[in-house]
Formats: sequence, C-alpha cells, structure tokens
Amino acid sequence: MKKISETSRPAANKRWTEFNALYQIYPRSFMDTNGDGVGDLRGVIDKLDYLKGGENSLGVDAIWFSPFYPSPQADMGYDVSEYCDIDSLYGSLDDFKELVEKAHQRDIKVMVDFVPNHTSDQHAWFVESSSSRDNDKSDFYTWRDARADGSPPNNWLSIFGGSAWQWHEGRQQYYLHTFLKEQPDLNWDNPAVRQEMKCVLKFWLDLGVDGFRADAVRWISKDPELRDDPLAPHCRDEKSVKSFEDLQHKYSRFWENLFPYLRELTDVVASYENRIMIFEDYPDGNYSTKEQYLGFYGVNPEVSMPFNFEGLGAKFSAESLSTMVNEFQGMINPDVHTPVYCFSNHDQPRIATRFGGEEQARLIALMQLTLPGLPVVYYGDEIGMANAPIRFEEIQDKSVFSHGNDEAVGRDPERTPMQWDGAKNAGFSGAKPWLPVNPVSKKVNVAVQQHEPDSFLALYQRLLKLRDKYAILRMGEYEPLSDVGEDVFAYARWINKDQHVFVALNFSNEARRVNLPHSGNVLCATHPVDYPGISADGVVELRSFEGVLVECCEHRIAADY
Ligand code: NOJ
Repeated sequence: MKKISETSRPAANKRWTEFNALYQIYPRSFMDTNGDGVGDLRGVIDKLDYLKGGENSLGVDAIWFSPFYPSPQADMGYDVSEYCDIDSLYGSLDDFKELVEKAHQRDIKVMVDFVPNHTSDQHAWFVESSSSRDNDKSDFYTWRDARADGSPPNNWLSIFGGSAWQWHEGRQQYYLHTFLKEQPDLNWDNPAVRQEMKCVLKFWLDLGVDGFRADAVRWISKDPELRDDPLAPHCRDEKSVKSFEDLQHKYSRFWENLFPYLRELTDVVASYENRIMIFEDYPDGNYSTKEQYLGFYGVNPEVSMPFNFEGLGAKFSAESLSTMVNEFQGMINPDVHTPVYCFSNHDQPRIATRFGGEEQARLIALMQLTLPGLPVVYYGDEIGMANAPIRFEEIQDKSVFSHGNDEAVGRDPERTPMQWDGAKNAGFSGAKPWLPVNPVSKKVNVAVQQHEPDSFLALYQRLLKLRDKYAILRMGEYEPLSDVGEDVFAYARWINKDQHVFVALNFSNEARRVNLPHSGNVLCATHPVDYPGISADGVVELRSFEGVLVECCEHRIAADY
C-alpha cells in the first residue's frame, strides 16, 4: 500500500481516503458457485482477482457486503435472524474468514453491513419477546396496547407502506416496525439491547473486518412518549394521510439519544485499530437540517462519517450537481470530514438508467472518482450496467406489495445478477438466477469490456489507478471553478498550492468551450476516441457529455500527491 508523507498525513477518519474507492457487493447477485441461482461467498473469493491484483482487474481497495446473515430474506437480508453467523445460502463463517484473509492479502479492506434498527420477526429475541409480556426479552422491542377503539397507539407510518404498528395475537399488543412487519424495531432505550449490539460489532471486528455500513440509523432513537407525527403541510387532516410523505417524521426518528447511542457503537469501533463505521443517512430536508446531518460527522470523528446520498436523487445537470457538491464541500470541514459520495446503490435505479445512458454514466464516473473522499461504487456500475426489466410475476422485493401500489416495480431492477460474460445467465450461475439477467448482458459484460481499451470498465480502471497513484484526487483540496459557462461543472483539486488538477464536465448534448486557469495534459477523458487536446492558454473543447481530468502544466502533480 502506498505511503503518504508525514506532512500530508490526514486527520484520523481521513485515513480511509488512502483508499481509492469502496465497492458495494450485493451478495445475492455477485457470483454463484454452488448452482442454486443465488450468489455466495465462494463466488466473491473466486472473483477477488477481478476486484484487485488479477490481470485486467478493476482495482478497488475496499469492499462492502450488503447483509449475508441468516435471514428469512423478507427484505433480502435486512431482516436479520442471527447477527453473528452467515446464512447457509451464502456459505459459512469459515468461507467468510477465508475471504477476509484473501482480501487482506491483496490489500482490500472488507466492510460488512450492520443492521441495528430492527431484526427479523424470526430472530430468537423477537420470538421470546412476543411470547409473553414478562419474559427476559419482553422490552427488547417497542410494544404498546391498542387504543380504546383497537387502533394502533399512534399515527406513525412504515416506510414500506401502511401503519408502522402490527397487531400481535399472542401478546395482545402492537409492535413497532418502521420497515416491513417482518422487521420489528429494536428498543434502543433498553441498555440490554445496546449491549447486545455492541457484542455483535466486537464479533465481526475480532474476525478482522475493517468497518461497518450502519443501516437506517436515524430510527434507533424515537420519542419515548410516542407522540403523533405532525401532518405534512400539504395534508389537511388525518384522513388525507395516505403515504409516508404525508407526515413529518418528527417523533418517530432522529430523537435526542441518536448521537449518544451511535457514539456507544463507534467507541467499540474506535477500540480497534483503523476501523470505521459509515452511517446510512442524508440531508432530506423533511426533518433533518444540515446541522443535524453534520451531527453524524460529530459522533466520533476518529472513526465515523455519514454517506452522502444526495447524488441518488440529483438531476443530471451541471447546475444541480455543482450546487450539490459545492454546498456540501462548503458545509463540511474538509480537514476533518471525509465525504462519501454515492450515486447508486441497491435501493435506487442504477446510474446508467437514472441519468440517461452510457455517455451520461461515464461523465458521472469521472466526476465521482475525481471528487474528494471515499467514493462508493455499486457492483456492475463499472461496466455501465443498467436496470433490468422485471415482470410482475418475477418480483422478489416484498416492499412492492406492502406499498399497495400497482405501478411500483420495487428495487429488483437494480439488483440483477452481475454480467460477467456473454454465456448463459451472463456467467453468474449455472442455474436459473434468483432474478432475471439483463437481456443486454451478451454485449454489456466484464469479459467483453476487459478486452476493449476504451470500454466503460477501462474508464473505471484508469480512474481508479489515477486515484490510487495521486493522493491529490483522494485528499486534495476542492475548489469550484467559476465562469466556466452554461452546462459545465468544473473544479480544481490541489495540494500545497503548487500541485493542481482540473476537472471539466459538460452536461449538455452540445459541444462546450471551457477556459481553464492554465493549460495542461489530459490524464483521462470520458469519450473513447482521440481527445482533441487543450490549447496553450487552457481552452478545452468538450464534446457533448464529455468530461476531462487535466493535470495542470504549471503545477505538475507527483505520484503520491
Ligand atoms: C436501508 C437498506 O438499504 C434497504 O435495502 C433496507 O430495506 C432498509 N434499510 C431496511 O433495513
């Protein structure tokens, strides 16, 4: 692993910016080796060469697994029924240990998902908790009596549709579930719950994992009085409340113990060397202010930081994306805070689908991998995978049905099997895959792109190599360039004021001319063929949807800077 000099050694939680990117693996869909149509850990072991160190590999420094714990799979593993084991669907703990060892041999960090807000309704804790009102685990979840008319205790809503309360015949009480009814919320105000969750972290840290992605954390602290959430401004009365957006989620999440509880978790993480926790959260405007969002950075700056998910909802335009990045960079303290820019994940349509196609996705790739911090790349985005068509009878994502919306397609289209080659089932599995493979996989796949010097994959490889080689791209200062013209987003990255790179991104379907502060050499361009070059006075002619990364001639960058 490359070293950085003492003078540029970053603040503690910025150590992770020594790594070029974090690659998200959705285990169900990465690689199936036991022929059941579902991906598994041996599949990931087999593909480590692709991730780093092999011939023509992608070259990522860190991976994060979506949940692979024992689970009835009501929410594809986000309904955990045992926190300290691996679902036999994916393999065994021994497979995982081997995976961590082999990943570390390649200098790949390994992060796992941590799901603290809820368990499966089949977790032993819930089974016991629901068995009576006075068992040892009776207070592990949020149970309440019905109101006099039999209705739920308050008006809180589930994100996946309907009331957040489910009646339990056995206990003759309601229990709270922010997500599916199969995902009861843990009661974090119970110290025994917090203690158990800290033990879970220790278990995985002792196995050698480098960090956690902490799921849905904003919900772990709720108003203990369970007051009704206020109506959203567009709603007149309770009767007009139909969906999650019709309430302001003031009392059901983000309550005052959120950060202290997270601090308890990060204290465990901090007691191990060089581990991290990334919180799933984002400034959504509905209930959390920017100050509240920044609170996530404050939890434990040594080891934790939040994702930035704004890119998941951003429009494809220079104005929207530059505003998003500039405001965010202005809001954080770049010396201490690591941005974690995300443009795609297992919950949102893929980049190539959402932003309009391959050219647009290439532009986003160049942007994401030249912004500061730790970028997160969702498996398959590196080959420009798009959402796949899923027929109604093929839908696996249960959240579709609880929404009660016939139009909903759910999250399956962005979770389809990795497209490895042009063979049957895209080389993912010998059996019928759990979700259909995208029909374009004959053309869009790793094997084809590994042999094309200008492929989508080649662009990612090039950018990751540059990010690897030049610390300026990971931890350099960020400065937006002004007066670059309509539809163009441009910025400089620099270190020590004497080393600069420039990035210019054209979001228009027409050519644009951009004046950079200096001339330079093009280190990387999004378009496959012959970049026309930069004039001696720094004028760049960008073709439609073209982006370039330029090393400034006057301030050359040195490797490791
Ligand atoms: C966020 C996860 O990304 C999503 O897939 C899941 O359904 C919810 N949290 C509930 O755990």
